[in-house]
Amino acid sequence: MLVSEISYGNWVTHGSQVEADQAKACVRAALDLGITTFDTADVYAGTRAESVLGEALQGERREGLEIFTKVFWPTGPGRNDRGLSRKHIMESINGSLRRLQTDYVDLYQLHRFDHHTPLDETFEALADVVHSGKAHYIGVSEWTAEQIRAGHELARELKIQLVSSQPQYSMLWRVIEAKVVPTSEELGIGQIVWSPLAQGVLTGKYLPGQPPPAGSRATDEKSGAMFIKRFLDDDVLSTVQRLKPIAEQAGLTMAQLALAWVLQNPNVSSAIVGATRPEQLQDNVKAIGVKLDPALLKAIDEVVDPIVVRDPAKTESPANRP
Ligand SMILES: NC(=O)c1ccc[n+]([C@@H]2O[C@H](COP(=O)([O-])OP(=O)(O)OC[C@H]3O[C@@H](n4cnc5c(N)ncnc54)[C@H](OP(=O)(O)O)[C@@H]3O)[C@@H](O)[C@H]2O)c1
Repeated sequence: MLVSEISYGNWVTHGSQVEADQAKACVRAALDLGITTFDTADVYAGTRAESVLGEALQGERREGLEIFTKVFWPTGPGRNDRGLSRKHIMESINGSLRRLQTDYVDLYQLHRFDHHTPLDETFEALADVVHSGKAHYIGVSEWTAEQIRAGHELARELKIQLVSSQPQYSMLWRVIEAKVVPTSEELGIGQIVWSPLAQGVLTGKYLPGQPPPAGSRATDEKSGAMFIKRFLDDDVLSTVQRLKPIAEQAGLTMAQLALAWVLQNPNVSSAIVGATRPEQLQDNVKAIGVKLDPALLKAIDEVVDPIVVRDPAKTESPANRP
């Protein structure tokens, strides 16, 4: 299965930060700009994000889309409304398909590793999901290299395909480079990376010592602000400002530079961007096909090196079910 180099994801936006009309306008813009890959999850906006996406994609030719969703984080109050047990996987896929208004998803992703369910149970349930036609391929998210290897082996035995890993990856967050990427390359697995713009920080719009721009994720007290907080540190923000002349010299916006940077990694199949406005997608898709030369990559590294996170131990899943 091929995917678009830029995918559109709806975490913290659809069903939450962004009104339904605006969400639909973003999906329309994505489609018009050639984005065919859409990423969501059962848990986003308390399951509302899948419904918004399903509604927005109505009337589109299903064969022309790649629709991805996920399972693991809580979708309800019960102790079985979470994790990777057979019970929750079977219930969650049915809920996702209903909300997305489709008979199948193209990629069904395990949103974290579940330390409380035997891996055999999870993969046997996934094999039933795939063999009954409810999903075509399996992916994982934030799994370590060892977990990916174990899952890949089980998937082969069960004659299903584990094709992708969905980690956080950006100029600032490179924890997959040491282990996850080499293992994935060996196994033929691609990275579909999240928060390639560090949630908007790498666009350069957050200025050190100043309040965040009106309407941005950092002002979304319902949910977004809590997640972007980790990057809103004056050290990080002033370092990011120093990338501006590099982007200008390359004739790129800051967003395009950040996206072209993740896409230059040959193991990255797609960068999933979020967007609250169609104009952001118009900006972001222009990163497709941009080649960054070695001198420019070196200049970027010289600027960001002091704040880059590289520790592979930061690829982790909760020790206990959430
Ligand atoms: N597997 C996982 O655990 C996991 C975790 C997180 C995300 N994800 C996936 O990855 C997707 C993307 O994550 P993300 O939303 O954090 O990605 P991101 O692309 O790093 O950040 C997106 C946000 O940045 C701002 N933005 C985007 N383009 C811009 C532009 N050109 N100029 C100015 N601002 C711009 C927008 O926020 P504002 O307009 O509000 O500022 C937008 O919502 C999610 O939707 C989800 O599908 C997966």
